[in-house]
Amino acid sequence: MAAPIDADALEAVLRPFGRSRTLPAAAYTDPQIFAWELRHLFAGTWTCLGRADEVRERQRALTVGGIGILLTRDEGTVRAFANVCRHRGHELLPEGGAADRIAVVCPYHGWAYRLDGTLSTATAMREVADFDPAEHGLVELPAVVWEGWLFINATGDAPPFADHLGDLDGLLRPYRSAELRLGAAHDYRVAANWKVIVENYQECYHCPQIHPELCRVSPPASGSNWDLPGAWVGGSMDLREHAETMSTDGRGAGVFIDGAPRRSVRYVALFPNLLVSAHPDYVMTHRLWPVSPGVTEVECRWYFPEEITDPAYAVDFWDLTNRQDWAACESVQRGVGSPHFRPGPLAPNEDAVYRWTTLIARAYASGHLY
Ligand code: FES
Ligand SMILES: [Fe+2]
Repeated sequence: MAAPIDADALEAVLRPFGRSRTLPAAAYTDPQIFAWELRHLFAGTWTCLGRADEVRERQRALTVGGIGILLTRDEGTVRAFANVCRHRGHELLPEGGAADRIAVVCPYHGWAYRLDGTLSTATAMREVADFDPAEHGLVELPAVVWEGWLFINATGDAPPFADHLGDLDGLLRPYRSAELRLGAAHDYRVAANWKVIVENYQECYHCPQIHPELCRVSPPASGSNWDLPGAWVGGSMDLREHAETMSTDGRGAGVFIDGAPRRSVRYVALFPNLLVSAHPDYVMTHRLWPVSPGVTEVECRWYFPEEITDPAYAVDFWDLTNRQDWAACESVQRGVGSPHFRPGPLAPNEDAVYRWTTLIARAYASGHLY
């Protein structure tokens, strides 16, 4: 199902680079488009739910793109199921709830499931002729752990995760993210549409204006963007000669990720909600959780090699940069909400923004991302 959006406005977004326009205001403000995105761009694709090892309880319920999900952890294995009892559809756990039981027990009539989703007990159903418990296990949904992050497809009909990832796998493998340790976590609530945040992340055209500290360690015009298979957009930027990483003075802890590129930083947005910034010595992520058309929760996480015990050099630098970005994004959100906003042209160094806006516009027009 195509998005409820003006087709003429999408035509302008999809013109060749150099002649295109940004997304129309409705893409950032309209509750109907937002609801469409949750269903088609979040539930319908591979949404990142954070690190797999953060699922500590045996059962947890959450909503992805409007679809209720039950995550279970059975020793090291995390699985995703529809949060719907196979008897008459009651939710197994309330949204946001968690439990550490080894049985998933429906609160309505007490049917019980194992953590692998198979039905273990259904009181009174033994007396029902032809009732076969094997036919009434929970509906399992695709779930994948990649580089330590958990991704699920809530509708169950997206192409395989490997296709979603495309060539990104090889570009981030050198950072061995799954082996890194969480060093710091900041949560922000940003008064901007989730796409405004991704678009801001995709260009450094704004860096000389709002990030003087960043420009001291990384030339804003350096690097280039990739155009490779997969549902992601990104590129790399160089470090200045004196800088060994992104920090206020360019110094890190003198410890690097074995095998990671040393003179550049890779910035990628894996559709729809995980931004990965891979440095020579740490990996930072922003995980976006859209709350409403104009509000997004952003979980920022920093992961380091075990030897790095004081993450302040990276955290202080990026917390400042994050806040500079959020202020810009919130201003853009107010601007696109004006009745006088008109979609604008993109500069030559906004090619990754173009890749992103065309990805979105094609999905709006066709009804699906892939
Ligand atoms: S709906 Fe779950 S046991 Fe009846
Ligand atoms: Fe920025």
